[in-house]
Amino acid sequence: MIVRVRVVGCDAGLAGRAKVLDQRAAAARALSALGLVDPPRIPDGPPLPAQGTHWSVSHTQGAAGAAVAPFALGFDLERARELRPELVRRFLSPAEPALDPLVAWTAKEAVLKKLGLGMAGLSRCAIVARESNERLQLRFEDTRHDVLLQRNGVYYAALSHDGGPATAVQWEWET
Ligand SMILES: CC(C)(COP(=O)(O)OP(=O)(O)OC[C@H]1O[C@@H](n2cnc3c(N)ncnc32)[C@H](O)[C@@H]1OP(=O)(O)O)[C@@H](O)C(=O)NCCC(=O)NCCS
Repeated sequence: MIVRVRVVGCDAGLAGRAKVLDQRAAAARALSALGLVDPPRIPDGPPLPAQGTHWSVSHTQGAAGAAVAPFALGFDLERARELRPELVRRFLSPAEPALDPLVAWTAKEAVLKKLGLGMAGLSRCAIVARESNERLQLRFEDTRHDVLLQRNGVYYAALSHDGGPATAVQWEWET
């Protein structure tokens, strides 16, 4: 079993609607390189599996990425930046391990996207342990979810999948 993740570059200088369209086009390129062209999605909602292939996309300034697998998965990508303390307090409690806020953000997003909830599930999701620089253990309600972390230059990526511990993850960075 394998999860493939691909990150491609896009124009970091755009703003507004042009930025959104450019980032979505980049995510579509990443998905297409992984073998999925225009898979089904709920508008402004979670992706739908296409013939047994689950997928997740994420966009940030200057890059977008996609992940595919034959089981549920969630992927998040963020560009390094300072997060305001009041924002950090909204998604990372003092009871959780002290992590780089952007790492915590991407990890929770990956789990919440895998579950198809997005931000609606934030208050029920917590980081339990930092197992290494590449792996965190999270909990959503009573269920454990592992998150794999990758950093490439200014980009932070997180992946959560339901393939189990024997699953290989192939990271492909074009940025
Ligand atoms: C929509 C959300 C799932 C991700 O938002 P985001 O990080 O801003 O955006 P990303 O680029 O990583 O992901 C967007 C993709 O998520 C997918 N998505 C949307 N709703 C989703 C849901 N409920 N579940 C899973 N995936 C979803 C879509 O494929 C979307 O792509 P599209 O915009 O091209 O349709 C949601 O969590 C959100 O609104 N986040 C806001 C960011 C935030 O405040 N984070 C706090 C840190 S934990």
